[in-house]
Amino acid sequence: MNDQECKVDYEQFIPRETGFIFKFEKKNNTFIHTFIEGKLIEKVGLCPELVVGKSLFEFLPADQALRKEAFYEKAWNGEHVNYEGSFGGVQYLAILNPIRHNGETVEVIGTTIDITKEKAREKQVQQMEKLSVVGELAAGIAHEIRNPLTSLKGFAKIVKESVSDQTLVPYLDIMLDEMNRINEIVNEFMFIAKPSENVYFQHTNFNNLLAECIHFMEPQANLKSIKIEFGSEDDIFLDCDRKQMKQVLINLLQNAIEATAESGHFIEVRLEEMGLESVMVTIVDKGCGISESRFKRLFEPFYSTKEKGTGLGLIICKRIIDLHRGHIDIESKLDEGTTIRISLPRLHSVDL
Ligand SMILES: Nc1ncnc2c1ncn2[C@@H]1O[C@H](COP(=O)(O)OP(=O)(O)OP(=O)(O)O)[C@@H](O)[C@H]1O
Ligand SMILES: [Mg+2]
Repeated sequence: MNDQECKVDYEQFIPRETGFIFKFEKKNNTFIHTFIEGKLIEKVGLCPELVVGKSLFEFLPADQALRKEAFYEKAWNGEHVNYEGSFGGVQYLAILNPIRHNGETVEVIGTTIDITKEKAREKQVQQMEKLSVVGELAAGIAHEIRNPLTSLKGFAKIVKESVSDQTLVPYLDIMLDEMNRINEIVNEFMFIAKPSENVYFQHTNFNNLLAECIHFMEPQANLKSIKIEFGSEDDIFLDCDRKQMKQVLINLLQNAIEATAESGHFIEVRLEEMGLESVMVTIVDKGCGISESRFKRLFEPFYSTKEKGTGLGLIICKRIIDLHRGHIDIESKLDEGTTIRISLPRLHSVDL
């Protein structure tokens, strides 16, 4: 088989935009590349001159070259080999096909395709699985936790009211606070398990809903002397599940307050119409912002940078917004602040 034949063959199989073809032979016990072609070569930071006529060790770091050499060896021994790797930020799948002549391998043809996107999708699916495992766990144990917790809370209250030694009261307060916190976490688990249960769309004055949430969060903001400024034009109506949407807005306002340093700062909340069909809520804080590395993990369950954070707030927000067929977009710069935009369609079939 000559180069030309091989090229024509493989063009049918490899999308050249997303891969490359290469060939190697074994000469003096070393694998030497004889051919390489395809767009992915440049993307991974190589070029044919670096590869052709060279061994793996001449253009790859030693650890990577050693790993690949093992696959090359297998292919040279007649096996069809598949392996995954990453190079220059690209994740790829390589397939090695030995070409045999009279029972001897004469060369190996390798094809490499870019699977970066597929890997990202796979990670997303794993993420969802992680969530659904959490969900199943939640559904299974939340109930079991809630019942004894209710008795514990009840008895702790009785003890607090009747205790004669007043020095014990602060401890009982801490116990009650912590029990409330367990209760909140269990409720959040329950929500993640079955978020779509009981979505109840109602035609809603969204200005009022936002104002209520801001009013609810004001005492917390005041503690840090943070002002929440709310601006909107006319009253804007849309169909939403009021309870769930309040949960979204309160979660986001809470994050904004937690991110903002004390005194003198303000958080800006805007409500705007986006044409006839949708509405945009924007929450801007000038807080600590989110670093690039943290940003990538924002919607991971249990990812929190806060001592007392559960790391479920944003996921719950996203789930609710998804249920409303809306969209959440986060923009953030470390030490400068964060802007969150939520767009929501106005109309759903309303449950009256
Ligand atoms: N406005 C913001 N400014 C800076 N960082 C933010 C902001 N919003 C979210 N984050 C980052 O994202 C992480 C996840 O937020 P999320 O609301 O999901 O969880 P949490 O606030 O840590 O805990 P909780 O479950 O109690 O809400 C936070 O720990 C924080 O690091
Ligand atoms: Mg939060």
